[in-house]
Amino acid sequence: MKVLVAGGAGYIGSHTSVSLLEAGHDVVIVDSLVNSDVSSIDGIQQITGKKVDFVKADIRDFNELDAVFAKHNIEAVINFAGHKAVGESVSQPLEYYDNNLNCAIVLAKVMSARGVRNLIFSSSATVYSESNTLPLKESATVDPKNPYGRTKLYIERMLQDVFESDSAWKISILRYFNPVGAHPTGLIGESPRGVPNNLMPYVSQVASGQREKLSIFGCDYDTPDGTGVRDYIHVMDLAEGHVCALRKIEESEQGCFSTFNLGTGRGYSVLEIVKTFEDVTGQSVPFEFVERREGDVDTCFADASLARQELSWEARLGVYDMCQDAWNFQKAFKISQHG
Ligand code: NAD
Ligand code: UFG
Repeated sequence: MKVLVAGGAGYIGSHTSVSLLEAGHDVVIVDSLVNSDVSSIDGIQQITGKKVDFVKADIRDFNELDAVFAKHNIEAVINFAGHKAVGESVSQPLEYYDNNLNCAIVLAKVMSARGVRNLIFSSSATVYSESNTLPLKESATVDPKNPYGRTKLYIERMLQDVFESDSAWKISILRYFNPVGAHPTGLIGESPRGVPNNLMPYVSQVASGQREKLSIFGCDYDTPDGTGVRDYIHVMDLAEGHVCALRKIEESEQGCFSTFNLGTGRGYSVLEIVKTFEDVTGQSVPFEFVERREGDVDTCFADASLARQELSWEARLGVYDMCQDAWNFQKAFKISQHG
């Protein structure tokens, strides 16, 4: 298929573009580069040896997006485009609602106008309510606690309405758990701007000496070692999940609207991640315990059985690979930045 990857220069979109190209699809990336760098396009091409069509544009611009559809025979869309920092969404809600919702609306409008009805949307485990029992099934109660999570839920609901208005649509909602790691070549990975919000990039930057020590947010959670437990998933496994979701859409004879968790089904604590990172890389990761971070839960992990049954997908890589590949990228990135 010829796939338009919206937000494809970003962290998950670039890895998914590699997997799509390796599975034989053609890829057209549209990205404004608001949170990414054009170097990821080179990385994708270097890894795969294949050409990617890249258009720098804001997805909210109907005419620019329509011109991409006019030029390329797009058959499916994967929508990664949006802002994703939870804390920032609390301080800048309008920016989040504007960007995330309008990217989704304009994409669906252009698709509709051009008769393209195959869509995969990046959602998040953050849509689930804190009150659910674990592991989280797709049928669990949703009740996001921040504007970012609400943008994801509203887009899910909007796409369901779109499907109900025209059942020719084939829509797959993918709820990611905690994506980490990088492509094993170290040519693409996660390079957050400023101070990282997430655990793995912070740990990588401490190990490489860019930051002094990790602050571990809370040591008194109701978990085996007192630190938060999450379902970390290697970004290449996540990327493969999109290829499987696309195959399901391709094979489906009728329109469909489905929601899948993409996680491993296994949780690791912050201390387990730090210890694994130290073992894998031989670097020490100094840390201190600080107050809990507002909004964090004790434990969160997926029931990933639906994706296994319906998409024939399951995560293959473990925390060892996640730490190894995050570290490979960190080293390569540091060299490219600092010579
Ligand atoms: P990212 O910021 O690296 O990638 C998003 C890309 O979208 C960036 O390249 C950015 O430049 C682009 N973009 C943003 N607004 C745009 C616009 N208006 N027009 C064109 N391009 C635009 O983030 P990521 O980690 O790769 O996440 C991809 C998607 O997955 C996001 O929708 C995110 O909310 C979702 N998600 C991420 C995580 C995570 O932990 N990384 C977890 C759950 C869900
Ligand atoms: N943590 C620290 N120190 C840090 C960063 C994180 O101790 O410097 C801890 C957190 O308290 C938590 C764990 O590490 O226990 C993971 O935190 P992350 O910030 O890496 O990930 P979250 O689970 O908070 O959230 C991430 C994304 C969300 C997404 C969610 C999906 O940031 O956007 O995964 O489960 F919705």
